[in-house]
Amino acid sequence: MLSVKAIFVISVFVVLFSISNADFLYNVSKVNGLGRTLDGVGGLSGGGCVTRLLQDYNIRSYSEIMDYLFLPGFGASLHILKVEIGGDVQSTDGTEPSHMHTADDENYERGYEWMTMVEAKRRNPNIILYALSWGFPSWVGEGTKSPWTNSTVRYTMNWLLGAKKYYSLDIDYIGIWNERNWDKGYTLTLKAAIAAAGLKTKIVGHDSWWDFCDTLARDPEWSAAVDVIGAHYVGSSIPKECAALNKIQWSSEDMSLDYDTGSLCWARSLNQNYVRANLTATIAWDLLNSFYDGLPWTGVGILRANEPWSGHYQIGRLLWVTAHWGQFTKAGWSFLRHGSGVGLLDKGGSYVSLTDPNGQQLTIIIETMDRNSSQCAHSSTVYYTTTNQTATFQLDSSFSHITQLYVFFTDLNVLDVNQAFNYKGIINLSDGKFTLQLPVGVLYTISTINGTKGAYVAPPSQPFPLPYADDFDKYRISSEAAYFSDQTGSWEIIDTASARGKVMRQMVPETTISWCDEAQYPYSIIGNFTWKQPLNVTVDVMIEKNGTAFVALGVSQGGCGSGSRGIVFSVNTTNNGSWQITESTKLTNPVASDSYSIVAGTWYTLTLVVLQDHSIGYINGNAVGRCELSASSYSGWAAIGSSYDYVQFDNFRLQSPNYIL
Ligand SMILES: *[C@@H]1O[C@H](CO)[C@@H](O)[C@H](O)[C@H]1NC(C)=O
Ligand SMILES: *[C@@H]1O[C@H](CO)[C@@H](O)[C@H](O)[C@H]1NC(C)=O
Ligand SMILES: *[C@@H]1O[C@H](CO)[C@@H](O)[C@H](O)[C@H]1NC(C)=O
Ligand SMILES: *[C@@H]1O[C@H](CO)[C@@H](O)[C@H](O)[C@H]1NC(C)=O
Ligand SMILES: *[C@@H]1O[C@H](CO)[C@@H](O)[C@H](O)[C@H]1NC(C)=O
Ligand SMILES: *[C@@H]1O[C@H](CO)[C@@H](O)[C@H](O)[C@H]1NC(C)=O
Ligand SMILES: *[C@@H]1O[C@H](CO)[C@@H](O)[C@H](O)[C@H]1NC(C)=O
Ligand SMILES: *[C@@H]1O[C@H](CO)[C@@H](O)[C@H](O)[C@H]1NC(C)=O
Ligand SMILES: *[C@@H]1O[C@H](CO)[C@@H](O)[C@H](O)[C@H]1NC(C)=O
Ligand SMILES: *[C@@H]1O[C@H](CO)[C@@H](O)[C@H](O)[C@H]1NC(C)=O
Ligand SMILES: *[C@@H]1O[C@H](CO)[C@@H](O)[C@H](O)[C@H]1NC(C)=O
Ligand SMILES: *[C@@H]1O[C@H](CO)[C@@H](O)[C@H](O)[C@H]1NC(C)=O
Repeated sequence: MLSVKAIFVISVFVVLFSISNADFLYNVSKVNGLGRTLDGVGGLSGGGCVTRLLQDYNIRSYSEIMDYLFLPGFGASLHILKVEIGGDVQSTDGTEPSHMHTADDENYERGYEWMTMVEAKRRNPNIILYALSWGFPSWVGEGTKSPWTNSTVRYTMNWLLGAKKYYSLDIDYIGIWNERNWDKGYTLTLKAAIAAAGLKTKIVGHDSWWDFCDTLARDPEWSAAVDVIGAHYVGSSIPKECAALNKIQWSSEDMSLDYDTGSLCWARSLNQNYVRANLTATIAWDLLNSFYDGLPWTGVGILRANEPWSGHYQIGRLLWVTAHWGQFTKAGWSFLRHGSGVGLLDKGGSYVSLTDPNGQQLTIIIETMDRNSSQCAHSSTVYYTTTNQTATFQLDSSFSHITQLYVFFTDLNVLDVNQAFNYKGIINLSDGKFTLQLPVGVLYTISTINGTKGAYVAPPSQPFPLPYADDFDKYRISSEAAYFSDQTGSWEIIDTASARGKVMRQMVPETTISWCDEAQYPYSIIGNFTWKQPLNVTVDVMIEKNGTAFVALGVSQGGCGSGSRGIVFSVNTTNNGSWQITESTKLTNPVASDSYSIVAGTWYTLTLVVLQDHSIGYINGNAVGRCELSASSYSGWAAIGSSYDYVQFDNFRLQSPNYIL
């Protein structure tokens, strides 16, 4: 009651205040020079596995999704693509495979980041590429658990050179270690190696919080090796000591918001990252919500595409907010100066203006986000508006060649993607001036460039297809089998050069230099985290030398952490070849177990049938064990798993049980 009264009093005050004030005039000018150069708006594929399911889409949907993100003048029209350098580590929503699982291994066909980069570049040859590690295979530590070794320099250089050699990709920027510590020696040695290899890749330091500027300020040698300062989730602010470094500064990871409802915060961040902090790039985590619902940060991405089996995908308002920037600006354009086209609006909200290198084009982007957008993740200080306002923009003689401007408009008060990014016609300038009514919660782009609200029709949504079977024979060597989403460890297709054909193999032989807590044992999920019905999962396994293999149902957790609850049927060559059923992927405290004679080098068919009130484990079709764990108390994905050993998997099948006891 009290707070309602307080709001009422404030709003009365605001209305009176607004009546008593003249409409505000904002000058748009470049006669006194320009502001900083725009490096762009970007998306981050990685950190991790966020684009995992995209590669399993049919070519048509894949191509449409990539157009929405990267094709200039169609959708988001992103300027920057940042990718993870897969390091075999869990990096938020899964693990991405490393190009060097071991010191003598090198492979540039793993994962999906290469293809994402190639396809982005095909659509926009000027796309800026930026790469960063979340973690590393163990061997780079040279016996330590730290990556600051020359092996890591070799590892990173190999990735940069591989990009060039196999994909003709020049990586424009390379980071150090996502949100973890940083090392001067490594940075200097990497910098020297890049120069020695004749590459132009610049270094971003160090993809973390604003916690390192004093260090750089005190160390000119280290500072000189860093081309760009990249900080995460900055809330459109910059500490004095960082601004004082006088370097290019980026919000190198930002957003973490729902592909639709996150649009308000994103609109504000894109503008205010420059207005309030002079940041010249803003990169959205993540590029694409292409990971299973039920993993951390469900729904987060510039668009949503996590149904490869149907080809269905969803465009929300956040993509169109991105388009308000992407379609009307380019990397290399300049911001106008603060006070001459850039600033906070008189009654809340903000505006920015940019011009091309010839000073011919002009784009003005205006946002009036309300206090709802204070729910933005990681954004502590907010500059919002609660009142409608009228604003007049006055272009000076430096823009006298401009007589008309295109208008694109999004009303973010409306939860409807059709109300986003709508063409509102042309403004004819009178004396270089135009006036806008700015209600609370809208986004305008006013530009010499026209935009397009690109539109494809996505196929309808469908549930994960059951029954499901995969013999892995149709895949390219080194790729990943459809729909499997590795959560610890890394699986890839190998050719056994035998009658068995291709199989899927766990490739990580030891624990990694990780980014976050990893599960004790590698596992890979598939299906739907809401599955609670009786299911039958079957897979052939072959433990190459030693170790454990398992199959599971009701697996409810992915991402960082120590593993998942679930009904897990495992076999272990070391433990006298016995089997067990456990309540989690930690494989501890078996609820049922017995000796068997599983030996290395031999294929076995493991089947786990989970029914309404009990579960049964089968080896080679023979029921070996039974326990009370049941579908009534477990829900989640199906999974396969192993110890940190080379273990092969074949003939995966998932179906409703033939019978219900
Ligand atoms: C805009 O420019 C005019 C003419 O140079 C100047 O008189 C006025 O003070 C400026 N207004 C603002 C808000 O900077
Ligand atoms: C790493 O390489 C640099 C440059 O070649 C060299 O100066 C340095 O001694 C090496 N460090 C180690 C630990 O081998
Ligand atoms: C941004 O740059 C402008 C122009 O150089 C400067 O006046 C302003 O103080 C800077 N903002 C911050 C937060 O450093
Ligand atoms: C803004 O927040 C208020 C109060 O939480 C809520 O009623 C309203 O629906 C929100 N508006 C939007 C557009 O999200
Ligand atoms: C803008 O000017 C053009 C002619 O230059 C005219 O055709 C058009 O109707 C004008 N639009 C508006 C909204 O006044
Ligand atoms: C603010 O603008 C909106 C949209 O134009 C309008 O619906 C609303 O009535 C206005 N509010 C006030 C207080 O004028
Ligand atoms: C600008 O683009 C819109 C669609 O995005 C289109 O309807 C309009 O005709 C275009 N205007 C001009 C003058 O080309
Ligand atoms: C998972 O199952 C739920 C409930 O049937 C359904 O709403 C959802 O669309 C399914 N998701 C996937 C990814 O299959
Ligand atoms: C691996 O298997 C061999 C026998 O083949 C055995 O001697 C050894 O102890 C096993 N190692 C582990 C770690 O289980
Ligand atoms: C393996 O089997 C042997 C013989 O049955 C037994 O003595 C030994 O304790 C078993 N080892 C394990 C680890 O269960
Ligand atoms: C396999 O059995 C051995 C011997 O009991 C044990 O040390 C090891 O932890 C087991 N492995 C797993 C993954 O449970
Ligand atoms: C489980 O699936 C396997 C493989 O499709 C099949 O052979 C077996 O009969 C099924 N078992 C049950 C209990 O449904």
